[in-house]
Amino acid sequence: MKRLTECLSERLAEAFEKAGFDPEYGRVRASDRPDLCDYQCNGAMAAAKKYRKPPFEIAEAVAGTFAGQEGLPFDIQVVRPGFINLRVTGEFLADYVKNAAAAPDFGIPKAGKPEKIIVDYGGPNVAKPLHVGHLRAAVIGESIKRILRAAGHDVLGDVHLGDWGLQMGLIITEIRHRSPELPYFQADGGDAAFPDEAPFTISELEEIYPCASAKSKEDEAYREEALEATHRLQSGDRGYRALWEKILEVSVADLKKNYERLDVHFDLWKSESDVQPYIPDMIEKMKADGVARLDQGALVVDVSEPDDRKEVPPCIVLKSDGASLYSTTDLATILEREKLFAPDRIVYVVDKRQSLHFIQVFRAARKAGIAGKDTGLIHVGFGTMNGRDGKPFKTRDGGVMRLESLLNEITEEMTVKIRDNRNVREDDAERTAEMVALSAVKYGDLSNQASKDYVFDTEKFTSFEGNTGPYILYTIVRIKSILEKADPSDLEGEAGALILPPSGEEEKALLMDLAGFGAAVEDAAAELAPHRLCAYIFQTANDFNRFYHETKILGEEDGTRRRSYLSLLKAALGVMERCIDLLGFSAPEHM
Ligand code: ARG
Repeated sequence: MKRLTECLSERLAEAFEKAGFDPEYGRVRASDRPDLCDYQCNGAMAAAKKYRKPPFEIAEAVAGTFAGQEGLPFDIQVVRPGFINLRVTGEFLADYVKNAAAAPDFGIPKAGKPEKIIVDYGGPNVAKPLHVGHLRAAVIGESIKRILRAAGHDVLGDVHLGDWGLQMGLIITEIRHRSPELPYFQADGGDAAFPDEAPFTISELEEIYPCASAKSKEDEAYREEALEATHRLQSGDRGYRALWEKILEVSVADLKKNYERLDVHFDLWKSESDVQPYIPDMIEKMKADGVARLDQGALVVDVSEPDDRKEVPPCIVLKSDGASLYSTTDLATILEREKLFAPDRIVYVVDKRQSLHFIQVFRAARKAGIAGKDTGLIHVGFGTMNGRDGKPFKTRDGGVMRLESLLNEITEEMTVKIRDNRNVREDDAERTAEMVALSAVKYGDLSNQASKDYVFDTEKFTSFEGNTGPYILYTIVRIKSILEKADPSDLEGEAGALILPPSGEEEKALLMDLAGFGAAVEDAAAELAPHRLCAYIFQTANDFNRFYHETKILGEEDGTRRRSYLSLLKAALGVMERCIDLLGFSAPEHM
């Protein structure tokens, strides 16, 4: 559907033209002064320069073209020095919302030219437990994926698993120290099959990595061994490869469980190891094309540009010992994505502390022709999640907070709050608590601009008041319960079938919010900014609650008016539920 401002802009453009000015000046936008008007057009000010006429005169001439016309969508007013202020009529507004409520996907405008977009988010590392640092990637990335999809794009989410490099050699080395008798270490050359069952559980595996990593920092010989193990794995040793596959299997099963709980879903479970086969040819080509050069034994690509304000060091693609690095893998991943999907854009949702890495990789990819000229490469860098002390979020005793523990803690807290509330049946309490907890965690994160650090404040995020997930859900559940109590005959007909012009300021404000949903989604998609949708839904929830407090809905005696209220509630419910779906959570029936 066309945005409401677009409908108004068209009318104003016509008027500018009719009055003898360029229709370009007819652009309308939301008002800076909602107390004076709903929308405004500042075109007369801009036109004044070109036509050398006072802006007021131009504005008057434009407004004059509407004189005597009936059924206009707005009241128009000209204010000095030349603002054109518009107040939309109740009829127009009600009609617009009625159409949006009945339109597919609430009238969210769909991209004229849908793009193929890959969203690279998650980025967990195999055999390391998911910690809160991975939470932001998952939460923000999932929402961006859903928003882009709603805007009509063809989107694939890729987890881009970290399953290659020294980390794997460390784990293998530690397992070897603990159980040297395992068949994986006896396999030289033979073709005996390996056992189906993994020789460790996920909890054992999660203990192994930190242990190995600590040892390698103190013990040079241990580190050498791990490097050797990494090398053996990468050169295809059968036993090492088979063990690595088991590590992957156990770890991925656990990751899937965790992401499932977060309502985060990847279309692609690709990993760093998948792209290793592309590396040799890619490197050869970079050398042959003169894109890469040797620097103290390492192979590098110069990526600095004259306008850089900070120095951008060369992108290293091979170390002097011939090993590939994080950058090499990211370059090969772009190569594979171009080959398999030919994306218009790749969006990386990764910690902003990696921004230099992405600048280097993106420039090297362009220079080497790995990324197509028109392929957009975008890093959406997010800030750190801090505790109330302003330092990176930790457990109470100062350890790294595991994602699972954080979710458990919040869910427990929500369960207590929800049990106190007798609206929820005992057997529903836990499921409801899990849903509300998820809204608390996700909304708490998403309501901040992604690039900013933010403080994870459990008490604030789980509150039913203020700008929080639980408050949004509470509002949605309130609408559901009114609709549940309504006389079914009042609810017949399609969504928004009957919406009358608003009878008060509160109702009008709510209608204006609902009319703005499509535009809010479109803007959030253009800016890759879920926080825009949080701001949108917070305002809508506030306006709904104000309307609710001012209005007798079920008790309204005029049947047509009552049905119109309920129709409006249905539309509000639909919009708000779709909005939280785009943020990545959903609402219970009761709470
Ligand atoms: N595994 C990496 C980490 O934990 C994140 C991967 C991000 N994605 C990428 N294409 N580099 O830091």
